[in-house]
Formats: sequence, structure tokens, C-alpha cells
Amino acid sequence: MAAFCLYSAYTVGSTALSWSWRLFKTFLRPGRNLFKRYQGGYVLVTLATFGLGLEYAMQFAAKGFNLVLVARNQEKLDAVKRKFKEEFGDIDIKLIVFDFDKPYTAEGYQPLKDALDQIEDISVLINNVGVFKADYFKELDFCMIKTILKVNLVPQTIMTKLLLAKLLERSKKQGKRTAKPK
Ligand SMILES: NC(=O)c1ccc[n+]([C@@H]2O[C@H](COP(=O)([O-])OP(=O)(O)OC[C@H]3O[C@@H](n4cnc5c(N)ncnc54)[C@H](OP(=O)(O)O)[C@@H]3O)[C@@H](O)[C@H]2O)c1
Repeated sequence: MAAFCLYSAYTVGSTALSWSWRLFKTFLRPGRNLFKRYQGGYVLVTLATFGLGLEYAMQFAAKGFNLVLVARNQEKLDAVKRKFKEEFGDIDIKLIVFDFDKPYTAEGYQPLKDALDQIEDISVLINNVGVFKADYFKELDFCMIKTILKVNLVPQTIMTKLLLAKLLERSKKQGKRTAKPK
């Protein structure tokens, strides 16, 4: 009987603790201070003029990070830069026009690499590039399937490859944290 009571008390106690921890983590615990954690720097966001990319860029700008925004359309990038400058004042914003649906060759990515080589102090990569089709798979045509496979796999990997050395160097040489893949 005593063992049963002890076991029940243990089960109820550990479940209550586990749920309290979850509730605290989800609703009460304050978010990390990312600006302090990464000591500022530039946050690079791909697909940055609309949707999730635009939201990421805005959230990081609001925290005081500088930005590197990548998308296809120069006018849209300029408009986002103007808006953020008005809203967030003295942050620096660099724009890179690049189409990720390019031939995936070293030459195809050279303009992006050249642009990235000009930028020091990148601390976070938001590797947001990808395509999403809500249609049923059976309704997708061959061309769309090919695009989804290509664009959802290759550019993220190349972006990681292009930036990893820079991110590691920031940690190693300047002793600053970076949000990098392991
Ligand atoms: N929205 C969703 O419900 C959902 C669900 C699951 C996953 N996702 C993923 O989340 C990410 C963002 O999706 P989203 O729906 O927020 O945005 P989105 O509508 O897919 O993307 C819009 C942004 O991407 C840029 N863009 C589009 N194609 C590009 C290309 N080939 N090269 C460079 N830039 C390009 C556009 O800029 P320009 O006009 O300048 O080209 C614009 O800034 C994607 O990886 C998507 O697969 C989204």
C-alpha cells in the first residue's frame, strides 16, 4: 500500500512538474535577447520582400540588427529598405538581387558569392529560400515537381556553404557567437 501511494505521488508530482515547465516555457519565460547573444551584426534573410522572410527581417530589424536582404526584384527590395529605414532608423541594410531558380553551378552563384564577400560581420542566416505548393501532389505537373525538389534542396545547401566559413570566422577571430549550423 505504501509503495502504491509513493508511486502515485511520484507520478502525479512529476506530471505536474513537467506540465508547469512546459507552460512556463511557452507562455511566461521571456524570449532570449538575440541582439546581446549574437552581439549585433548583420542578419541575412533570403526571400525577404514578402511573407515569412519579410516578417523575420522586420523582427530582427526591430531588435537593432543590421540586415542583408535577398530577393529577385530590386524595386521591392528598395521599398522594404525605405520602410525599415523609416521605422527602425539607424540600422544598415544591404540589398542583394538574386534569383534562386538559377542553374546550380559555381558560375550561377558567383554574383551572390561576390556580393557576400563584400559584407563583414554576418551573425545570423535565415535560410528561408524554398517553394511551397498547397496543391495535392497528384495535381502537380512534372515541371512543378522538379522546381520544388530543386528549390527546396539546393539553394539552402549552397547558402550554408557560402556563409559557413564567414560565420565560423566571426566566432573564432572575434569571439562572437553566430547562429550557424553545427
Ligand atoms: N507560406 C506558407 O504557408 C509556407 C508553408 C510551409 C513552408 N513555407 C516556406 O517558407 C518560406 C517562405 O514562404 P512564404 O510563403 O513566406 O514566401 P513566398 O511567397 O514563397 O516568397 C516570397 C518572397 O520570395 C522572393 N522570391 C520568390 N522566388 C524567388 C527566387 N527564385 N529567388 C529569389 N527570391 C525569390 C520574393 O521576392 P521577389 O518578388 O523579389 O522575387 C518574395 O520576397 C519558403 O521556403 C516556403 O517554402 C511556407
